[in-house]
Amino acid sequence: MRKELISSNSSEVESYSETSSRSLDPLPTAEDLEGDSTLRPRQLTQFIGQPQLTEHLQILIEAARIRDKPVDHLLFAGPPGLGKTSLAGVVAREMGVGLRITSGPALTRGGDLAAMLTDLNEGDVLFIDEIHRMARAVEEILYPAMEDFKMDIVIGKGPTARSIRLDIPPFTLIGATTRTGLVAGPLRDRFGFVARLDYYDTPDLVAIIIRSARILGVEIDHEGAAEIAKRSRGTPRIANRLLRRVRDFVEVRGDGRITHASAVEGLELFGVDEIGLDKLDRAILEALCTRFGGKPVGLSTLAQCVGEEMDTIEDAYEPYLVRQGLVLRTPRGRLATEKAWAHLGIQQPASQDSRLF
Ligand SMILES: Nc1ncnc2c1ncn2[C@@H]1O[C@H](COP(=O)(O)OP(=O)(O)OP(=O)(O)O)[C@@H](O)[C@H]1O
Ligand SMILES: [Mg+2]
Repeated sequence: MRKELISSNSSEVESYSETSSRSLDPLPTAEDLEGDSTLRPRQLTQFIGQPQLTEHLQILIEAARIRDKPVDHLLFAGPPGLGKTSLAGVVAREMGVGLRITSGPALTRGGDLAAMLTDLNEGDVLFIDEIHRMARAVEEILYPAMEDFKMDIVIGKGPTARSIRLDIPPFTLIGATTRTGLVAGPLRDRFGFVARLDYYDTPDLVAIIIRSARILGVEIDHEGAAEIAKRSRGTPRIANRLLRRVRDFVEVRGDGRITHASAVEGLELFGVDEIGLDKLDRAILEALCTRFGGKPVGLSTLAQCVGEEMDTIEDAYEPYLVRQGLVLRTPRGRLATEKAWAHLGIQQPASQDSRLF
C-alpha cells in the first residue's frame, strides 16, 4: 500500500473565508481548517450519515479493488461543510492511494493542471474543489484526461505548431461543487457517479458530535449533544464548531462536562438561538420585517442593509432561512414569512401579511 500523499495548493486555503467570530457560517474558518484535520472521518465506517451515498461508494470502491482499476470519476455536490472534502480523503484512503488536492480557482492556466496530471502516480485521487470555478482552457485539458487518460500538448507556435498526445497514469478525479447548476454539462457528463450531499438530520449530527467530543477528550451527555445538534443547521462543520465553543464555555465557566443546561447556556452566550440562528440571521429577518415595512426586498439592498456581501447572504445564510420557512424568495424580492415575525416576537401588521405576495 502506498503512502498517502497530501499536497495542498496555497491559494485554495486563501480562498476560504477569514477567521470570523460568526459561529454559523458554513464556510471554514482558520480554526476549522486546523480542527478539521483531527475531526475528519478517515474511513467509510467513520463517515456518519448519508447512508445511500456511502453504500454506493462502498460498492464503487469494492468493484474497483476487484478489477484492480482506479475508482470511476466522482462528483460531490452540496452546500459547504457537509463532508465533500472528507469523502475525497476517505476514497483515497480506502483505495490505499495518494490524494492530491487543488481547486478550480487555483488552476488558472492549462499548464497548472497539466503539471499536476503528469505528476500523479497510478491510481491516485486528484481532488478539485470548487470545480465549477475552473477556467475553460483548464477544462479542455481535463476532458481527454478523464476519458482516455491522455493529454494533448501543443509544441511550437504559429503555423509550425503541432499537438502531441501524452499518456498520463490512470487516476480518479473527484470534483466538489457547492453549485451543481454551474458545472458545465460536458464536464458533468464525464463523471461516472454524481452524488448530492444532503443536510444531516439531528440523530446523525448527535452521532458526529459525540464522536468529535471523544476525539477532543471532552465529556458530553446525549442531551448536551442533542442541543448542539439542534442548533447546527444540519451541517457537521457547524456542529463541530459549536461543540468547540461549548467546550470552551464549560472549561472556563463550568465543570468541563457538557450537559443540556451547560450547552444551552454556552450557545446563548455565543448568540446562537434555539433554532440555530445567529446575529446576522436575525439582522436579515429584522431588516425584512421592520426596515422595509414587510415588503419584498432585493438582495443587494438587503446586503447593504446588514453590511454583508451579497454572495455570503445568498450562499451561506439564505438557504437555511428559506429551508426553515422564515424567508420566501419571490420574483419581487425576499420576504419575511409569518414564522419569521413570530420568531422575532413582533406583531405582523395585517396589511403586510406575506400571503398577499
Ligand atoms: N459524515 C461526517 N461524519 C463525521 N464528520 C463529518 C462528516 N461530514 C463532515 N464532517 C466534519 O465536518 C468537517 C467539514 O467537512 P468537509 O470539509 O469535508 O466539508 P465540505 O463539504 O468539503 O465543505 P466545503 O464545501 O466548504 O469545502 C470535517 O472536517 C469533519 O470534521
Ligand atoms: Mg471542502
